[in-house]
Amino acid sequence: MYSTMQLAKLIALKRGLDPELAALTCAFHDIFTLQTGNHTDHGIKAEKIIREIIEEYNKKHQESLPVITEKEISLIIKTVAIHSDITTTTENPYEELLKDVDSIDSFLH
Ligand SMILES: [Fe+2]
Repeated sequence: MYSTMQLAKLIALKRGLDPELAALTCAFHDIFTLQTGNHTDHGIKAEKIIREIIEEYNKKHQESLPVITEKEISLIIKTVAIHSDITTTTENPYEELLKDVDSIDSFLH
């Protein structure tokens, strides 16, 4: 998770994307597997966990940092949902970034 977040920030800066948002997609990309031990359809099944964590962050821990907006939450959930589908490409640069980062990170490990 941490290595993907660092890679995401670097690639996001190179591609003109928001590095924090890109890093958030990486922070959550395998959260379902981490919390359940189940890898099957883990991207698609992550929505509930992602919403719960971000809702708690926005309510209790956000303090002086900006709230994660519903638009950002939707992007994170959609990006995480398809991150394992490397056979297709999308028009969303964050979705492509997460797929690239996940592949690079797997290669490096
Ligand atoms: Fe994954």
